[in-house]
Amino acid sequence: MGLEYTHEAGQTPISEEEMSGLKIKSIILQRELDEFELLNIIKAKAWLKKQKLTPETALSESFMKKLHKKMFGDVWKWAGVFRRSEKNIGVGWVTIGRELKVLCDDALFWVENETFSQTEIALRFKHRLVSIHCFPNGNGRHSRIMADVLMENVFGQEAFSWRAAGMVSADEERKTYIAALRAADQGDFAPLLKFVGA
Ligand SMILES: Nc1ncnc2c1ncn2[C@@H]1O[C@H](COP(=O)(O)OP(=O)(O)OP(=O)(O)O)[C@@H](O)[C@H]1O
Ligand SMILES: [Mg+2]
Repeated sequence: MGLEYTHEAGQTPISEEEMSGLKIKSIILQRELDEFELLNIIKAKAWLKKQKLTPETALSESFMKKLHKKMFGDVWKWAGVFRRSEKNIGVGWVTIGRELKVLCDDALFWVENETFSQTEIALRFKHRLVSIHCFPNGNGRHSRIMADVLMENVFGQEAFSWRAAGMVSADEERKTYIAALRAADQGDFAPLLKFVGA
């Protein structure tokens, strides 16, 4: 018997094919999956601490794939690999690479020209990254860590707290977060800035 996957609000459903990429066959319950993923992410964060990154290195396809693999590679075979199926959110999968390049170039321009504050650059990048939805799953967590990478590793500032650890459950905090992303979809970044306490 495989994992009985429960679908939480604002979560991208994992397809059956993607589910077959589960490396740890003993996982049956959603909370067991959450736990293994969390352990993997903690390891990835320790690895990240040691990385000194320039804007050019961090804002690249290769770094973001590597980071996703570090975060989910113990659990999923497709970690660090772009999705090859359509999701209810995100660009058509064939254009992921192109859209990501445009985003990275835009963000490099913002950094260079100080178009927005460093906090707003990190949040604008995070929002567009999760809207592209590069990977089969884990895009929310990956995009939040990328915002932290920009703040800490690139700008030398404090990382965002992102409130409750990982925000995986559908609680109030999560609802506020998703609502803030919806506002950002409309070009209003005030709720997302407020959410991170900026
Ligand atoms: N309307 C929206 N606009 C932009 N982003 C959205 C919207 N709805 C959902 N999202 C993003 O999609 C993410 C879910 O994608 P996915 O399941 O791949 O990531 P995850 O890491 O598993 O989720 P989580 O955020 O719970 O850690 C949410 O975290 C949120 O960031
Ligand atoms: Mg998910």
